[in-house]
Amino acid sequence: MNEDATREDARPAVTGEDRLPGDPTREEMIARMIRVDHAGEYGAKRIYDGQLAVLGRSAAAPAIRAMAEAEQAHLDAFDNLLVERRVRPTALSPVWHVAGYALGAASALLGERAAMACTVAVEEVIEQHYAGQARRLGEDEAGLRQTLEEFGADEARHRETGLAHGAERAPGYEALSAALKRGTRLAIWLSERI
Ligand SMILES: [Fe+2]
Ligand SMILES: [Fe+2]
Repeated sequence: MNEDATREDARPAVTGEDRLPGDPTREEMIARMIRVDHAGEYGAKRIYDGQLAVLGRSAAAPAIRAMAEAEQAHLDAFDNLLVERRVRPTALSPVWHVAGYALGAASALLGERAAMACTVAVEEVIEQHYAGQARRLGEDEAGLRQTLEEFGADEARHRETGLAHGAERAPGYEALSAALKRGTRLAIWLSERI
């Protein structure tokens, strides 16, 4: 609680005012945010597509389909933001196209619970990522901040869905989860830069 209050206080009044010498400019910072979020939503959509290719007729299919639809809505919003803000998409889109789908399909082949473990790990990292971004936006970017907060809440719900579907009972859950979180953080780091 205390920690949250501190973070709330730390939010800049104007986006970028707290940046240090050598940090990206305000415009670069926002462009990076939109670029990485667009990539992330694209990757998320591909993960759920890959899972549905394997689990499309399983008991988990309706839940996975609902998450895929939410990711599509998130992706559409960032598609619009790319155009509005004149941000180039990541050059890694073809990589996330393949890697997202492969991750989704591979996790699903390990079983429903492993697929849900993938959801929990990835969504947890993305939720934290959105929260971190939202904290760096000032009142001048209140609209974008609200979008990130709404999407972050959706990702938290996806994580809950994964947990409700027995993610933690997947074989090798801890190792799988740790590897997936590392992979997701690496994908975020790369998409911000390339
Ligand atoms: Fe999303
Ligand atoms: Fe999600």
